[in-house]
Amino acid sequence: MSVVKVGLLGLGTVGGGTLKVLSRNAREISRRAGCDIEVAIAAVRDINKARLCDTDGITITSNPQDVVEHPEVKVVVELIGGEDLARSLVMTAIANGKHVVTANKALIAKHGNEIFAEAQKKGVMVAFEAAVAGGIPIIKAIREGLAGNHIEWLAGIINGTGNFILTEMRDKGRDFADVLSEAQSLGYAEADPTFDVEGIDAAHKLTILAAIAFGIPLQFEKVYTEGISQITQEDVDYAEQLGYRIKHLGLARNTDQGIELRVHPTLIPCKRLIANVDGVMNAVLVKGDAVGPTLYYGAGAGAEPTASAVVADVIDVVRTLTSDPENRVPHLAFQADSLSDRPILPMEKVETAYYLRMQAEDKPGVLADVTRILGSLNISIEALVQKEPKGETQLATVIMLTHRVLEENMNKAIKNIEALASITGRVMRIRVEHLSK
Ligand code: NAP
Ligand code: HSE
Repeated sequence: MSVVKVGLLGLGTVGGGTLKVLSRNAREISRRAGCDIEVAIAAVRDINKARLCDTDGITITSNPQDVVEHPEVKVVVELIGGEDLARSLVMTAIANGKHVVTANKALIAKHGNEIFAEAQKKGVMVAFEAAVAGGIPIIKAIREGLAGNHIEWLAGIINGTGNFILTEMRDKGRDFADVLSEAQSLGYAEADPTFDVEGIDAAHKLTILAAIAFGIPLQFEKVYTEGISQITQEDVDYAEQLGYRIKHLGLARNTDQGIELRVHPTLIPCKRLIANVDGVMNAVLVKGDAVGPTLYYGAGAGAEPTASAVVADVIDVVRTLTSDPENRVPHLAFQADSLSDRPILPMEKVETAYYLRMQAEDKPGVLADVTRILGSLNISIEALVQKEPKGETQLATVIMLTHRVLEENMNKAIKNIEALASITGRVMRIRVEHLSK
């Protein structure tokens, strides 16, 4: 049987997992690929670090150029993360006629347009299944399985760390910082964990999903991004009492006015399947005009789940080594010269429902003032709950659910409510999505 040689950039959480899966399942992988896949060389930062994976027979180097210049390597697997070095190594690999597999969503979301253009010129593939939703084959599902559909919207829990934190806060009342540190030790978090908690990682992934779903270029800078660090235990509890769950959601919607691209904490009705996706698990709900709603579920982070996607990409690349570049599945699902320039909507023009929480003086007329402000901006209230003042404070907690309204109207309403003398502090706002149509 012939052998295809692979070079790994990185042997950390995902690189180590990839090596283990390639070795453990070598026979089945050969039967699928039609040839043996052998790791010839791997680059790491510290060659003296103890590795949990077996590196016997593999050249280990601290110079990543050795991998992308290696004369026998046909496929370079980029798993070092970050932007600048990863971009330069991937561009060199492409220039050297090597195919690339990467799990690096920041790289694809921010430099993918340039990378794919170069790859197309050189007739090589750049595969990135592991960049979105860990082990879930969501890129393949949208790019190939749903290729007959007009995709209307997609919504996903696409950051394992964030979902792990929200689940542990809800189920065990654990402290935010404590759960984040556990996620880091389990290898789920990004090198800079603010990417996870502030929604940047999810925004990278949403950029990629939207591009392949709608046939638009990658436009990371246009994603509205809000993290979960402001979510309190109180909001988690009130949401549950109202029949909702708070999830950190990435949402892309193809509307008549343009495309919505947004990542933010979201109240979802508890009865939706996606509201019950807990811990490090991810799920992506995709609505196609022909198929209707479809849901994809699986581990969103971690060594072997991510390796599952990386290895599938390596096999895919190896299988198509002999096919003409023009006959391969396009990188962004649509032919490169057929991408659309539909506008991305600014957040003010997005319509959604809201959960509002505020601290109000417990006296007559206060609620009337608040509802008058909402009414004047065409915001209708779906539910209203007032909690009696607790302890020393004379402030009641007021929680409201509204019907759908333009974000710009809600911004004005919140500003006016916060200006009322009877309201103390900021109004907490969390968007609500029913995900039913
Ligand atoms: P990681 O554990 O930090 O591993 C990074 C690896 O790259 C390490 O082996 C490190 O070497 C090596 N490295 C870093 N800088 C290098 C340099 N200048 N030269 C040579 N080697 C270098 O990271 P990871 O969690 O595996 O993540 C890798 C990529 O996968 C990232 O793009 C991440 O976003 C993505 N991803 C991660 C997950 C996950 O669950 N962790 C899931 C999906 C996608 P040393 O080992 O010597 O330090
Ligand atoms: N840090 C990422 C997450 C890794 O927690 O989802 C998977 O992309």
